Amino acid sequence: MVSNGSGASRDFDDQAVEILRQNDLGGFTIPRHGLYPYQWNWDSGFVALGFATFDTDRAWRELETLLEAQWPNGMVPHIVFRANDPDYFPGPDVWGVSVDPPTSGYSQPPVATSAARRLAELDQSTAGRDRARALFPKLLRWHRWFHEARDPQSLGVIATAHPWEGGRDNSPDWDGPMAAVDTSGVGEYQRRDTEHVDPEMRPKKHDYDRYLALIQFGRENGWDPAKTAQSSPFWVADPGTTMILIRADRDLRWLADLLGEDDAVREIDAWIERAEDGVQRLWNEELGAYCALDLRSGKLADGLTNASFLAFYAGLNHRDRNDRLIANLRRVLGEVRFGVPSLDPAHSKFDPLRYWRGPTWAVMNFLLAQGLRDTGYEDLATRLRDDTRELVKISGFNEYYCPLTGRGCGGADFSWTAAIWLTWVSPSQTSLAA
Ligand code: GLC
Repeated sequence: MVSNGSGASRDFDDQAVEILRQNDLGGFTIPRHGLYPYQWNWDSGFVALGFATFDTDRAWRELETLLEAQWPNGMVPHIVFRANDPDYFPGPDVWGVSVDPPTSGYSQPPVATSAARRLAELDQSTAGRDRARALFPKLLRWHRWFHEARDPQSLGVIATAHPWEGGRDNSPDWDGPMAAVDTSGVGEYQRRDTEHVDPEMRPKKHDYDRYLALIQFGRENGWDPAKTAQSSPFWVADPGTTMILIRADRDLRWLADLLGEDDAVREIDAWIERAEDGVQRLWNEELGAYCALDLRSGKLADGLTNASFLAFYAGLNHRDRNDRLIANLRRVLGEVRFGVPSLDPAHSKFDPLRYWRGPTWAVMNFLLAQGLRDTGYEDLATRLRDDTRELVKISGFNEYYCPLTGRGCGGADFSWTAAIWLTWVSPSQTSLAA
């Protein structure tokens, strides 16, 4: 319960609870009214952890509603459109996906699985066990979809077919492969995001044209994973998704153990083994970091991003690489007031306000800090939590923040930042990372 903090932090706890309540549309939570008026996949994973601090039943419900939108092939979509809201573009009609409820055609990193494990740890009641048992086969099918549909050659790295699938929309990780996407069929369209948020803080038209061209490709190919793997103009192994999936596989294995699902344990072990080996493909030796790999051209990106440091969260224990990553992280943290920026400030494309090209994100800090703490870097984990706390205190519960000044960016009263406050940052919570 968010009840025993100091007076001031209790105010923030109350505000965070209020934000989740306001964004709760009845069993599922939207990230933010206006800007993001539907259920988003990995947002719900974080949000479930926020609810878990004061309403266990509602926390489970968040994951259940997300999994209700699972496709017959196992994919769990990145947006669930339960009602048409003209405030958001591209809405359900643009995607042309014929499922009920309508959804987008891509997935997102499986934070929800790790949230399910956490809920199962917190709620050991018979009802809690039953809910974990009901979610388990769906989560297993989703992970199988990742390992098969998004890694059909068994490389041990997970491809994304759209920058939105990795959840880091306009990261410079995608600039190389996105440059090659043909936008000649896109035509005119009207963006809605820049009516809600300062355009300086959002992706550019250049990016949006390509986002839409890729959706067009998916729709024209009936959202068939085999065709996507074979000929999607964008097919890039993402360090973020790959690392988060490794962690989620470990958490799924934990659930399988708990539930006595022995066949699943063996299947999951094989996935983990393959990924621990395959992830080396993403290592950029020159930079000392894990980077995105364009699976069409074979080129590695050159950006040190916040996703590069998810290696700790994934539990990778390659000594030399970890040492280099930590040296890079200490340097980057020395260059900003509020870490971890989504791009190395020393990179020529660093832009402190523009979304995934510089700003600091509370949700990423939460994942990073868990990994750092697990690997013994308590000082760094504490720094990330302190920075995140300061950001909320200075600016409120923003979508993301300027790493140099702490200015709040993007949408205000954002669900996942409120959830991260409750589960990790609030002085009244000490149970998770750092
Ligand atoms: C943006 C973010 C993505 C998030 C979504 C909803 O698209 O880049 O990660 O899931 O907004 O908050």
